[in-house]
Amino acid sequence: MSILRIRCSPQGLSSESYRLSERIIQRLQANQPGDKLDVIDVDATRLPHADSDYAAALSSPADPLDGQLELGTLKESARQIQLLTDASHLVLSTPMHNFTVPSSLKVWLDHVVRVRSTFRITPEGKRGLLANRPVYVAIASGGAFSGDNAGQPDFLTPYLRHVLATIGLHQITFISVEGTARGPEFLEAARKRADAAIAALSFSATQPAFAV
Ligand SMILES: Cc1cc2nc3c(=O)[nH]c(=O)nc-3n(C[C@H](O)[C@H](O)[C@H](O)COP(=O)(O)O)c2cc1C
Repeated sequence: MSILRIRCSPQGLSSESYRLSERIIQRLQANQPGDKLDVIDVDATRLPHADSDYAAALSSPADPLDGQLELGTLKESARQIQLLTDASHLVLSTPMHNFTVPSSLKVWLDHVVRVRSTFRITPEGKRGLLANRPVYVAIASGGAFSGDNAGQPDFLTPYLRHVLATIGLHQITFISVEGTARGPEFLEAARKRADAAIAALSFSATQPAFAV
C-alpha cells in the first residue's frame, strides 16, 4: 500500500497545495494504522514535455518495438505509468492556473494517459486499463471557483474527472483551499473549511487498487 503524490506547484514545498496534500496524507495514514502507507513523491515541475519519439509512438497504430521503448520520453512515460500502477492511492497536489490545471500537471497527464498502456480505443470510445483506486486532489486557488461566491469558471475539476476516468480512475475526491490571494483572514477561513472536509472524509467506499 502506498501513496503516489504528484506535486505540481512552482512553489514546491512552501506551496498551499502541498500543505493541503500533507493534511490529506496524514488523514489517509491515520485511517490505516496497521498498514503503513509509504509516500512516493514526483515533482511534476521537473518532468520533460512529451518529445517527438513519444508523439510518433502515440500516433502510430502499434507500440514501438522492444528496442525502441527507451527512446526519448517514452522511457519517462513508462516510469510514470509504473509508479501510478504500483500505488494504492493517488494524491494530486495542484494550484489552479488560468482556470484549469497548471502546465506541470498537464505534462504528467500526457505521460500517463497513453493509448495501449493505460487506455484503449473501442467502438464505444476510450476505455481505461488501470485498476480503479482512490484519488485525492488538493487544490489551491487565488480566488474562489466553487460555491455561491465563485468568481470564475472551473475547468480544472471537470477536466480532471474526465481525463482520469479515461484511464480507469473514477473515485475522485476534490478538496480545495480557495481564495489564497484574499488576505490572511480569508486564507485562514478557507484552510479551516478544507480541514473540516478532510476530517469528514469517509473511507467506507474506498477500494484499494489492484481490484480490476
Ligand atoms: C500562472 C498563474 C495562473 C493563475 N491562475 C489562477 C486562476 O485562474 N484562478 C485562481 O483562482 N488563481 C490563479 N492563480 C493563483 C494561484 O492559484 C494561487 O496563488 C494558489 O494559491 C497557488 O497555489 P500553490 O501555492 O499551491 O502554488 C494563478 C497563479 C499563477 C502563478
